[in-house]
Amino acid sequence: MTKFYEPTTVVEAVRVLAEHGAAARLVAGGTDVMVNLNSGATEPPEVLLSVKRIAGLRDLDVSSSAVTIGAAVTFGEVLFSEPIRKALPALSIVAGKIAGPQIRNMATIGGNIGNASPGGDMLNPLLALGATVELARSDGDGVAVRKVALADYFTGPGQSVREPTELLTKIHVDLPPAGYRYGHEKFGRRPSMECAVLAVGVGAVVDGEGRLSDVRVVYSAVAPTPLLGTKTAALLEGQTITPDLLEAVALEARSEVQPIDDIRGSAEYRRELTGVLVQRAVQRLASPEEAEPISIWPPFDDGGHCCGRDHAGDHDHDASTSSASSAAAAVVAGETTRTITFTLNGQPVTVAVKALTPLIDVIRDHAGLLGTKLGCGEGECGTCTVVLDGVTVNSCLQLAVACDGRDVLTIEGLATDGVLDRVQEAFVAHGAVQCGFCTPGMILQAWWVLQQGVEVTPEFAARAIEGNLCRCTGYVKIVEAIVAAAESKTAGTTEVKSS
Ligand SMILES: Cc1cc2nc3c(=O)[nH]c(=O)nc-3n(C[C@H](O)[C@H](O)[C@H](O)COP(=O)(O)OP(=O)(O)OC[C@H]3O[C@@H](n4cnc5c(N)ncnc54)[C@H](O)[C@@H]3O)c2cc1C
Ligand code: FES
Ligand code: FES
Repeated sequence: MTKFYEPTTVVEAVRVLAEHGAAARLVAGGTDVMVNLNSGATEPPEVLLSVKRIAGLRDLDVSSSAVTIGAAVTFGEVLFSEPIRKALPALSIVAGKIAGPQIRNMATIGGNIGNASPGGDMLNPLLALGATVELARSDGDGVAVRKVALADYFTGPGQSVREPTELLTKIHVDLPPAGYRYGHEKFGRRPSMECAVLAVGVGAVVDGEGRLSDVRVVYSAVAPTPLLGTKTAALLEGQTITPDLLEAVALEARSEVQPIDDIRGSAEYRRELTGVLVQRAVQRLASPEEAEPISIWPPFDDGGHCCGRDHAGDHDHDASTSSASSAAAAVVAGETTRTITFTLNGQPVTVAVKALTPLIDVIRDHAGLLGTKLGCGEGECGTCTVVLDGVTVNSCLQLAVACDGRDVLTIEGLATDGVLDRVQEAFVAHGAVQCGFCTPGMILQAWWVLQQGVEVTPEFAARAIEGNLCRCTGYVKIVEAIVAAAESKTAGTTEVKSS
């Protein structure tokens, strides 16, 4: 049976890794680990070590010369970080293109690197920016750290130079010189919740005459590892962008990649597409106006809105958080079953859970709250959406054991004193419910987005629920309801009838 560890320091974590070696599986957001476990693609590990409460791993440090990102920082945190947006917009652009909001709230940069997929989205800008990573291992009573250039990190699909006893702790990027621009093209069958057929990133310094220098080209999902396009970069170096150059670049790019046939596309299709995407990415360097907008998410007001519940300041804005705000004790001894206490819709709940139990099982089977639905069990459909410490997550992928001391809101907790929330009211008023299976997840996701106090256009509302699938395909009514709820400003007035 799997033993769970949840250390709070790097020293404790690497000690566990030194003891258990390859038998230990690290987990951060769990959006790869839990998908593989839930689907049976991987066997339960002997040891599961959560990195989310390790001090320092969730820090985001932006200085005048460099950015250091803790391995357990989420894509959501990157996307909403104003300092990152200013210092390294390449990371914000790509964070906004990953999955949907719930996954972005859970998934970490360290997990993206740890998963070592050739199509890992965040690897592309990090490689273009020449990132290095820090790997920590146990050394006597302390910790030894080695630094590895990300370009030397990956050795094959799912493979890297990281030893089983090492923990990825930090990602470091020196700020590029003035004039640096980054163009990114990700191609999939739909705009969100999609692993890329392929992606291309091109970073370069562009001078006043439009001449390119320090060019780096990165191809994703066209080789066993993310691929540095050194020949394509050499072709661009020192050049200004012309139609002839774009033609030459496309030819070079097609010869440089090594795609394979797989479920997302044939090798031939990918090779052809590489040429098209590299041209588009290079064209984005031509002028700041060509630069990719950073998602459609407006900047959030860091100080004001948070999760909208009346407990501002006593929890983190992070999705799969923990650390400072949590009352939970470190688990460094390893437990197969752990008794956790967390707040569920304002009430304390104490329950013994196994290491791999997902939060949804506790909500439905232990607490008997059946509003949270199990759909895919793989993070794709959003029917299991709950609000954890102020942000929405997929409870099918969230480890219950890591919820000790935390705050969970389900659809049953949304009404206040028997009065429906404005989002619930709007769904009723606009007929945004057919079979109702997706509805609790849709409502909680819409509710979370509305807490941010931003203007909600129909386009924005549709993006806000991109991580939620409606099998009855009633999206028009749902979008109308979300826009109406945003406009209503006030809390609902409909009394909840008890059955
Ligand atoms: C519906 C869905 C959509 C997705 N869409 C995208 C997408 O658009 N783009 C994309 O790139 N990915 C996507 N993913 C994959 C996944 O979300 C990312 O790879 C994510 O970055 C994983 O982060 P995590 O924290 O959840 O990792 P986890 O699942 O916790 O871990 C992933 C791997 O990293 C290892 N690991 C975690 N932390 C560390 C550490 N500190 N040191 C060493 N190893 C570590 C784990 O052992 C595991 O092997 C998607 C996943 C789902 C379920
Ligand atoms: S996303 Fe959790 S059940 Fe589909
Ligand atoms: S209303 Fe049926 S799944 Fe959305």
